Parts: sequence; structure tokens; C-alpha cells
Amino acid sequence: MIQYDEKTGVFHLRNEQMSYVLQVVRGRYLMHRYWGRPLRAFRDSRPFQQIDRAFSPQPAAYENERTFSLDVLPQEYPSYGHTDYRIPAYEVRLKDGTTTTELFYKSYEIQQGKPALPGLPASYAEDNEAETLLIHLEDSKGKLAVCLSYTIFAGTNVIARSTKIENSGTEALELLNAASFALDLPDHDYDRINLWGGHASERNMERVPLMHGIEESASRRGASSHQTSPFLALLRRDAGETQGDVYGFALVWSGEFSLKTEVEQFGTTRVVGGINPFEFRWHLEPGESFQTPEALLVYSPEGLNGMSQSFHEVVRHHIVRGKYRDVVRPILVNNWEATYFDFDDAKMDNLAACAKDLGIELLVLDDGWFGKREDDNSSLGDWVVNTGKLKEGLQGVAESAHKRGLKFGLWFEPEMVSVDSDLYRAHPDWGLKAPSYPVSFGRHQLVLDLSRADVRDYIVDSVCKILDTAPIDYVKWDFNRHLTDAFSAKLPPERQGEVRTRFVLGLYDVLERITQSHPDVLFESCSGGGGRFDAGMLYYMPQTWTSDDTDAICRFSIQSGTSLVFPPITMGAHVSVTPNHQVGRVTPMQTRAFAAMMGCYGYEMDITRMSEEEKAEVRSHIALYKKIRPTMQLGRFYRLLTPFSGTGNETAWEFVSRDGQEIVLIYFKTLATPATELRTLKLEQLDAAAEYEVTSYSPARGLSHDGAGNRSLSLEGKSFYGDELMYSGIEVPKIDTDFAAYMWVFERK
Ligand code: DGJ
Repeated sequence: MIQYDEKTGVFHLRNEQMSYVLQVVRGRYLMHRYWGRPLRAFRDSRPFQQIDRAFSPQPAAYENERTFSLDVLPQEYPSYGHTDYRIPAYEVRLKDGTTTTELFYKSYEIQQGKPALPGLPASYAEDNEAETLLIHLEDSKGKLAVCLSYTIFAGTNVIARSTKIENSGTEALELLNAASFALDLPDHDYDRINLWGGHASERNMERVPLMHGIEESASRRGASSHQTSPFLALLRRDAGETQGDVYGFALVWSGEFSLKTEVEQFGTTRVVGGINPFEFRWHLEPGESFQTPEALLVYSPEGLNGMSQSFHEVVRHHIVRGKYRDVVRPILVNNWEATYFDFDDAKMDNLAACAKDLGIELLVLDDGWFGKREDDNSSLGDWVVNTGKLKEGLQGVAESAHKRGLKFGLWFEPEMVSVDSDLYRAHPDWGLKAPSYPVSFGRHQLVLDLSRADVRDYIVDSVCKILDTAPIDYVKWDFNRHLTDAFSAKLPPERQGEVRTRFVLGLYDVLERITQSHPDVLFESCSGGGGRFDAGMLYYMPQTWTSDDTDAICRFSIQSGTSLVFPPITMGAHVSVTPNHQVGRVTPMQTRAFAAMMGCYGYEMDITRMSEEEKAEVRSHIALYKKIRPTMQLGRFYRLLTPFSGTGNETAWEFVSRDGQEIVLIYFKTLATPATELRTLKLEQLDAAAEYEVTSYSPARGLSHDGAGNRSLSLEGKSFYGDELMYSGIEVPKIDTDFAAYMWVFERK
């Protein structure tokens, strides 16, 4: 998969879908040459044109060659201050206060498989699944040694990149910036897609033409955040869901990040991504090194759906680990929106009894079971059961769920400390804060200083103690505020710039220890919903609570946006009560259920209060879901319509089982419209020559337009060839009702 031509200095990373080409030029500089559809060979049909560009200076060795400047050279890991004025991939401050360094190519290695990144989440692969190119660069004065890592996977359009920077000199230096990757694309005829959001409104897709100058999506919050996502796509102007060239970038990192594009004066586009350099400093003594997080780079000639397929594949098979990786996840009921903090053994047992009757498989006890926590003002850090609420302790509530035939799950928020807690009273210096300024609060809590080993040990010990003393099958790991005043009482002044990064590295250490010592527990990460929905967290915990907004209509966009990078099996999605607790909307149960069936399905409402009629409907939804669950969770997923396309009023999702035998198609129309266009849905990725039978059809219930009843266009029991379903499509029966949801299930004959 990786070839090196010594004569030309060309490295060609190639698989069946893609080529990525770099070249060592002048024996020194690492140039980006090509990334796109696979090439048989790279023979340089498009040689780099050197032109004398005014105000683009020459490095010393090329003083008399005015056509050569780093300012215009397409590069793979550029520096600043030494003839290139574009965004650099790295910056260091040397002991003498200067920031100029010069990285030259030194050597390369090719390895089978994928080396791990110590202390970091990263993609992994068997030896026959991937090949890795390591390129060693060194500073011309010997002050830095840099290793660029490129892994190409067999059979998927992904390159994983990361960088290690070592102080190879004799004096300490400050690393000011260390991107995971950089590259220069030859033109700028792209749109840019960002995922923006907020709490309870995560991952909205925004598509804008790429502009000249620098544009950035970034988090400065100490977490990947609800507000932005560590993801960026560049797509050709004519590219859409199913066609056109798309380049996608996602970071395997849960902290603050930056993904920048720079369209420079001559129309090329630089892309740089990694830890946000804003506030980042890392002190390197001689011999010390810094390993950046990994970036996943995807090329898709098949539009956004093609890009998502590659991200989904790499996340499912090369990021998520452990026994739940390829296993369907349990249907759960979570007591948060059912009881909030007001629960006891009896309420939990009632929920369990009702859950079992409905076909639910896992009971989750959310916030409020520890310390003296009656609201969100106290007790984080005091991981001791509140026997006022749970008389028999966690053992009691877990065992009563088990007796009813359910699994039992528990909520934690281990990275935090409430000011009103025994932990804070005992260790006021364990929270992140500035030494001489007042602290800042979020939900009356402080973020623990995870750069400290004693704090990390406390978290690991207290969580493991609970997991080892009560029979707990599932953990929801929450994180409900962002970092402020990120200073550590333990680190010297010259290392305070490391705290925000060390916090995330500390979190990874804690997660590795807890999850590896409890391989049977299913972990779901959460940060006030989807505030840390990133590939870094998924390396430790195979699913994430997608949003605190459980309204089905809001979930159309939240889940569609999330699916750009993450597969449905990673998304927690629950049916909740109406009027909805976040937006007050009243929607049909079927709409709420079909929206939640896209992800790891569950209920987040007081199921004991449902009428018998509602319970019967829920039973039928759960029975249906259990039948289609392998397709929904383990199959392939395609967006046909999203709230980000067209009028925004329709959403359609298609799920295809791994063996292609079952197809589930779900369609939602948000608001009924008069004089409406009729909707045809064209299915994706079927076998044109195979026959598919419609084995189940769940229409929306409402006023049928033709008076013939809403089953008038039912295809149930009929069979069609794949080509007809893909190219002619199926017709959605028009119904006059808001929040309409439909589902068709097809079986290949
Ligand atoms: C935020 C989570 O997203 C909710 O689901 C719930 O667990 C609350 N925290 C509890 O405080």
C-alpha cells in the first residue's frame, strides 16, 4: 500500500479507493503532491511550477533562485518565520527567545499495521489491515526531531496522521503549537462544512463557500464541546450527499481543538488541525517529546454519504474497542426525565417492573444517588450511596433490577467536584483555579485537576470501588461544565500552559484504567448531552448520549449532523414524554420512537404513567426494534434527506444490513404543507438485480389526502427489483398532519 521511489523522492500511499502522494524535494522539503482517486502510478503529470513571486522570500541556500520560496510550496508540515507566511503546523520558542527553526527530511520507515500512540486514543489495526509510513524530519541546527506518521487502511478511504515533536537539542524549549496534520490543496474551489451548536442543539451542519483568508472551527472550552465539533469537510461546489469530491477531517481528541483553512493569495488551500494553539504551551527539556493526537483524513469521490461511510467504518472497526464493538446494544430506560433527583427504591423498582413488561432490557439510574445530592448544587466527588433514597444501597437497586430480568446501569460525573462536598472540603486545591483570583462556577461545581496523579487515582479508586461492590452492567459518564481558570496547584509556572492538554491526557489515563479493568461494563459517555461527542471518547466508551434535547423533531437535525462522522450505533437516542421537557412540543409516539430507533434506543420518561393504549404501542415499537436492531446498529447508514437540505421540512434515513438482506427506510415530514410537492424516495446501495419485498410498512397516522385511507399507497407484501427502488423510487402517501413518521422494511428475496 505504501511505495517509495528513491529516484524521485515520491511516497505513494495507495489502496483501491484512494492515493495520497508526498515528495521529498531538494533532499529537504516534504511536499504535498496529490490526494484523491487512486492512481496507478504518480509520474508527475502536473509538475510544481516555480514562479518568481514578489514578497515570497528565499531560504538562505536558495538566495539566487528567486523562483523558490516556502511561501508557495505545497507542504506537509510547514513552519513559520522562515519564508512561509501561511498558518504553520508547529511553532517553538527557543531558549534565546527566537522562534525560527528549519525542518529537513531525514529518513523514513514503513511498518505493517498501526503503532499505538502512548497515552492517547487512536485508530488501531491488524498488520494486514493497514500500513504506516513514518517520516523523520530534523531541524538543520539539531534542535528538533519530528516524526510524521501516516497510516493507510486497506479498503477504506482513510489516512490517519499524527506527529511527534522531540527536543533533540541541548537546551529547554517551549512548544507553542503542534498540529496533528497539515496539507496544501492546489486550489480553493470548495465549500466548507462545519458542525456548530450549543447545549441541547448539537452538530448543526453549515455549508459556506471557502473564503480567502483564514477560517477556523475551534473550541477553547477544554472539551471538544457542543458549540463546535472536531470535524471539517471541504467539498467541491457541485458535491452533495451522493456525488462529488469531499475531503473530511476529524480529530481523535476530546479537548480544545482548531481546524483551520487558509486560502492564500495564489488560490491554494492550506488545512491545519490539531490541539488549539490558543493558550497551548508545552515545556520540553532536552530529550523530551510531545505526541499530538491523531487526525482522520477521509477522501470521498461519492459525496458526503461516501465520506460518512469511511468515517463510520474507521470509527466502528478501528476506534471503538472492547466486547460491545460489534454487538447490538440493550434497550434502556433512564430515570432522569422520569424522576430527576426525586427517586427511591420503590420508584426505581416500579420503573423496572414496567420496563420488563414493555420489553426494555436495561434500567439506568441517573444523577442523584450519592452524597446528599437532592439537586445539582452538591456532592459531586462524594461517590458514596445516599441511603436516604436507596435504603438497600446500590446493591439493592441493582439486584432488584436483575431479579426482574433487567441489566442495571449507573450515572457518574467523576471529573468534577461540588464546592459543597466532603471531597472539596478535604482537598480545596484539587479543583482547577487561578491562584490569586476567585474561582468561576458552572452548575456550582469545579473541574478537578486531572493533570495530578493523586486526583486521577482518587477517581479511579472511587469509581472502581462502586463498580466492584454492586452488580453494574452499564455506566453513563457525564461532564457538565467546561474548563475555566485552568491552572494547576501542582505544576510550576512554565508548565501552566500544559494544563488544558494535561487535563485531557489525565482523563484518558483514568478512562483507560477504568474501562480496561471493567471490560464487561458497557460505557456511554455524555457531556450535558453531546458536548464531547468525538472519536477520542469513543475509543474508551462505545456510545455517547447524543443530546440533552430529546424532542424528536430537534433530533432529526442533531442526529443527521452527528451522522456526518459517527455511525448510528454510537448515538444514544431515547423516546421522551410530551409535552417535551426541552421545547414543549407534542409529537406522536411513533415519530418519537422512529427518531430514537436511529441510535441506541431507549426511553427517558416515566413509563409507569403511560396509559394501557400507550403501553401497547410501546410494546409494538420495542418488538419491531428488536427485529430490525441488527440492521439499524450494525448495518450501513445513508442520509437521503436531512433538515439541512431542501426546505428543511423532511428527513429520510436508510439502513442496510451488512449482508444486504434487510433495508429499513424511515421518513419524517416535520410540518404538513398545503399545495405540497409529492415526495419520491429513491433508495441507495441496493443490488439492482435483486428483488426486495416490502415486509412491513408503518404509515403516519393523519388525514389521508385522497380519502382512501393512508394505506392506499401501501406497498406491503409487494416485491420490486433493486433498480426500480433506486432509480424510480417509492412514493410517500401524503397525509395532512404535523410530525408525520413512516417506516418501510424491505427483505431481499
Ligand atoms: C446531563 C445529562 O446529559 C443528562 O442526561 C443527565 O444525566 C444530567 N446531566 C444529570 O445531571
